[in-house]
Amino acid sequence: MTDKHNPKHGPGGGKEVSPGQLIVALDVSDPGRARELVEMLSPLGVGFKVGLELFLAGGPPLVKDLAGRSQIFLDLKFHDIPNTVAAAVRSAASLKVWMINVHAAGGRKMLAAAREALEGLTPKPLLVAVTVLTSMDDREMIETGCVGSAADRVVRLARLSKECGLDGVVCSPLEIDPVKEQVPDNFITVTPGVRPPGEDAGDQSRIATPAGVIRSGGDYLVVGRPVMRAPDPFVAARNILAEMGINP
Ligand code: C5P
Repeated sequence: MTDKHNPKHGPGGGKEVSPGQLIVALDVSDPGRARELVEMLSPLGVGFKVGLELFLAGGPPLVKDLAGRSQIFLDLKFHDIPNTVAAAVRSAASLKVWMINVHAAGGRKMLAAAREALEGLTPKPLLVAVTVLTSMDDREMIETGCVGSAADRVVRLARLSKECGLDGVVCSPLEIDPVKEQVPDNFITVTPGVRPPGEDAGDQSRIATPAGVIRSGGDYLVVGRPVMRAPDPFVAARNILAEMGINP
């Protein structure tokens, strides 16, 4: 791992953009293909995300192996009672991953338990909370009993996460501004829902381009299908970095 992964002025605090701000979602079911992609894309200095699909295929040994080669965000979105989430967070941290996440909707006690579970660990993974899934639109918000806009709910959950000592939130690019404005102290934003100009949105609803995320001061961009489904994932990732203002 190199300091290419750390923006010079720290997440959220500065204008310098680094390749480590791009997190490529390894949304594949073949652990061999995931290893190939990490090998192929690591020279660009990007990080990687392991979600449910790959985790269920390769399990903890794969995650541990990848975490030894690169920065890994383990995206398992824990959402359970505090005791269970705290135990899961400890297990995740034992894999030496760089970032893990829980659902902010799990509430104050759950968020605090997750954070406390990491106390004293070195290295300590970043702990971020999923606010409102980037696939959710206004209709789905209403259907699931959420009143108010996605942005209002994201800010409310971001404030709660900050109060509980988390490092940041997962939100859509459209909510970077209000989170940065209303939650102080370099609270990190991790944004899926990123699409290069002209790319298919797929199931994502609240989206922006890589350049748009950087303009808003977003810290980490998660991109899956535009890289995974590209004829040449290396070229696709390099083009996204170029859009972010980086020419590796
Ligand atoms: O393919 P695409 O770029 O839409 O992938 C986005 C990735 O980010 C997926 O792996 C998805 O699980 C993840 N994610 C998300 N929305 C969240 C949290 C994670 O889309 N709120």
